[in-house]
Amino acid sequence: MLALKRRAAIAALEYAKKYSVIGIGTGSTVDCFIDELVAIKSTIDMVVSSSDRSTQKLKALGFHVVDLNYVGTLPIYIDSADEIDRHKRMIKGGGGALAREKILAMASREFLCIVDKTKKVDVLGKFPVAVEVLPLARGLVARAILKLGGNPVWRENFFTDNRNIILDVHDLDMTDPMFMETQIKQLTGVVESGIFALRSADRLICAENEEYSCEN
Ligand code: A5P
Repeated sequence: MLALKRRAAIAALEYAKKYSVIGIGTGSTVDCFIDELVAIKSTIDMVVSSSDRSTQKLKALGFHVVDLNYVGTLPIYIDSADEIDRHKRMIKGGGGALAREKILAMASREFLCIVDKTKKVDVLGKFPVAVEVLPLARGLVARAILKLGGNPVWRENFFTDNRNIILDVHDLDMTDPMFMETQIKQLTGVVESGIFALRSADRLICAENEEYSCEN
């Protein structure tokens, strides 16, 4: 699967090279993308990172990493997903970086999602929805999520970059992802969820075997 992730990452370079400022996601696919980005480093003035993991890798490779507030609006944000449907709505957050990822996605003019073919689904929801929660509100939010029909599982011994905890929510009814994203967001104590439906991707690069497809 790594070969497919790398293929998607290489295809994304075509888009990345048009911009001198790029928002960077998190995960193993994005790690491949960062490796490939080195080839066009001289054309990139600065990057904004969605996690400590990506920041460390970017800095080690010599990229100039800046705060989102310094840049304002991002011309492009490049990230992967755990699942993506035909409307380019996604479940993200398997790696635990969902809140910063959503902030960068919301702040971007274009969201380019890069995946391998295993991530494409007809209906979102097989992959559990990660919900970032303030530690004090863990029980409160878990009980509220049960009322929404989900089964929350605490990701024990894990803290996000924001020092919050994650509840991985199974069995949610995801037939209307925008509705579910809004419902979860409204719960007191929730920082963000890994449902990316209100801000879906604009473009999808999907690597399949020897080729890749690009959908706008
Ligand atoms: C990070 O929290 C996630 O949103 C990742 O973007 C997503 O889980 C995809 O990760 P992989 O590329 O490692 O599958």
